[in-house]
Amino acid sequence: MNLARRTMNHPAFALAYERIWRPTSFLAATGRTMQADRRDAVRTLRLSGARTVLDVACGPGNFTHYLSRRLPGDGYAVGIDFSVPMLRRARADNRGPRAGYVRGDARRLPFPDGGFDAVCCFGALYLIPDPMLAAAKMIRVLAPGGRIAISTSHRSDGPLGRVSTAVGGAGGLRVFDAGTFPELFAEAGLVEIEQQVHGLMQYVSATRPG
Ligand SMILES: C[S@@+](CC[C@H](N)C(=O)[O-])C[C@H]1O[C@@H](n2cnc3c(N)ncnc32)[C@H](O)[C@@H]1O
Repeated sequence: MNLARRTMNHPAFALAYERIWRPTSFLAATGRTMQADRRDAVRTLRLSGARTVLDVACGPGNFTHYLSRRLPGDGYAVGIDFSVPMLRRARADNRGPRAGYVRGDARRLPFPDGGFDAVCCFGALYLIPDPMLAAAKMIRVLAPGGRIAISTSHRSDGPLGRVSTAVGGAGGLRVFDAGTFPELFAEAGLVEIEQQVHGLMQYVSATRPG
């Protein structure tokens, strides 16, 4: 297990993640707050028209619970992650009547085809050993007409980008070209593909045709 994966499985990291690590590291990498990312997730996933959302690699549930509260009616959100310490934090800090958590691997999602109206995966594809397989599985569980949204690393040629690629690579983090996920989504037949780049991260969303 590489350094990044070992870190995600450490109870102390899981404890500090939502309040300290996530806000500071993403602010440094993107210039954006977690609140801005959460609001954009609700918008890009079009949750006002969704009933179910799957949050892949949910960590301590820092998006899952927020998203569950933005679903209309009796909609619910499911978070899946393989880290036991992260899921403990999710159940302690981000439980709610419409948020639930499952332990599992993003590459083998234990859900039926088309089972969710919205699927997201934020800040995790660069950690997953086979990110393309994980993305394909997310598309598999997305219902026709549903939205998928991801945020992940973005290759930047500036000095900061080169440093982060080198440091991240040594720790087991992958860096993706801007075209990787838009092309993957287009090849899978998704439409309405949107991409934004903020600093070292890219945000990509798309619709599965109805
Ligand atoms: C940096 S956290 C992201 C948490 C949250 N989505 C966010 O945006 O703040 C990355 C998470 O990915 C999870 N993860 C990494 N590889 C995974 C895999 N193959 N299957 C499920 N979860 C995975 C880690 O356990 C960790 O909780």
